Amino acid sequence: MKKRGKFNSKLGIILASAGSAVGLGNVWRFPTEVGANGGAAFILIYVGCVILLGLPLMVAEFIIGRHTHCNTVDAYRKLAPRSPWVFQGYLGVFTSWFILCYYSVVSGWTLKYLVAAVTDQVTTLSDSTAYFSAFTSSPWMPALYMVIVMLMCHWVIIRGVQNGIERYSKLMMPMLLLIIAVLVVCSFSMPGSEEGLLFLLKPDFSKIDSGVILSAMGQAFFSLSIAMGCLCTYASYFTDDAKLMKTAGSVALIDTTVAIMSGFIIFPAVFSVPDVAPNAGPGLVFITLPNVFQMTFEHVPLVGWFFAVMFYLLLLLAALTSMMSIHEPTTAFLLEHFDLSRRTATRIVTLSCIAVGLLCSLSFGPLKDVRFLFGMTFFDFFDFVSAKIFLPVGGIIISLFVGWKLDRQLVRNEITNHGTLNAHLFPVFIFLIRWIAPIAICLIFLNELGAF
Ligand code: TRP
Repeated sequence: MKKRGKFNSKLGIILASAGSAVGLGNVWRFPTEVGANGGAAFILIYVGCVILLGLPLMVAEFIIGRHTHCNTVDAYRKLAPRSPWVFQGYLGVFTSWFILCYYSVVSGWTLKYLVAAVTDQVTTLSDSTAYFSAFTSSPWMPALYMVIVMLMCHWVIIRGVQNGIERYSKLMMPMLLLIIAVLVVCSFSMPGSEEGLLFLLKPDFSKIDSGVILSAMGQAFFSLSIAMGCLCTYASYFTDDAKLMKTAGSVALIDTTVAIMSGFIIFPAVFSVPDVAPNAGPGLVFITLPNVFQMTFEHVPLVGWFFAVMFYLLLLLAALTSMMSIHEPTTAFLLEHFDLSRRTATRIVTLSCIAVGLLCSLSFGPLKDVRFLFGMTFFDFFDFVSAKIFLPVGGIIISLFVGWKLDRQLVRNEITNHGTLNAHLFPVFIFLIRWIAPIAICLIFLNELGAF
């Protein structure tokens, strides 16, 4: 048996897990959803979902991982031998591999925009929409950037848990948090930013309907990295004295703060530029924001340049720490299940993701006419299947597994570290994971399949 990796410190545990959670979902998807769904009212509902749904599921994954100290597949096999529950282990491994294939494409775009920002291109664009579509539809450039970010992630993962994931999370996460703080100040100090602030602080409850509530739940889910095996795999490297509830609380707090701060960065900046309409959709950070940076650049060049560089650096850091967590479940599975070396396991995952990622990347250009089910391109297909089918299914199975199948005493022991921590919240956790989580996720799932 090879010696398993382990995180070295509590801070490492929190920063690595927060690195997984804080990703493109926070800086890119969250502000878009807020913009489309009524500003502050959406944020209130989102926070409710994080507390009632996200936290219990995160703790559930932590329990599975930390109790078994195994990769996701073997974890289920150990907890429920010779039963169909192991399907969830395989689903987790497969889903992470699948998500990495397209997440790396968008991560590659963030690197491209960082390079463009440093070299003053973002701040001097004449047409940001044309620039974005010319870049994404060209055959080689996006693919090249995708390969580069995959190799960066590879470089960290191959170094293992302590020297790779933990060390780089400890380096990148504080940088990320610092950049967020600097950007919030930058954004607030722009003239006319009050309108954006108002939009984020004044709830418009008239926009709230069942669809909005369900989107908030879906967003909470994606943002906290739940239901895929990422957190379960990371938890398998936790030390025995790590406090699962407290860790989950800190991770959720960091993740939600970063998401809300991203809103505070983006909206005041967008509203401060009169002719730039907030673009609800993927264009927000790649099309609308370059216009904002450009206007700022025209007034004070250095500030515009600095704002753009810091923003895309933030996006890249967020994307990389999440990619690491999406890479690790498959790597850990190959490494332990087939007894490969970490080097070989990491190579297999990186190369296979690059191969399939190329298809996703090319689907904005030369392969844009290759369509699947419902006329989706490769990229859309990967996004749809993983985020809208595998994740909710995984969430339902995990909550049922921990809520109904696992031995209650085992769950209690993990939560209280064998009775050394207080158990006040234990009944609340059990109630949420048994009843609220599975029912709520079923609703999200049906909604996303268009049943509402
Ligand atoms: N949470 C990350 C983000 O906000 C993305 C991510 C990492 C993820 N691991 C995940 C999403 C697992 C769903 C499941 O961008």
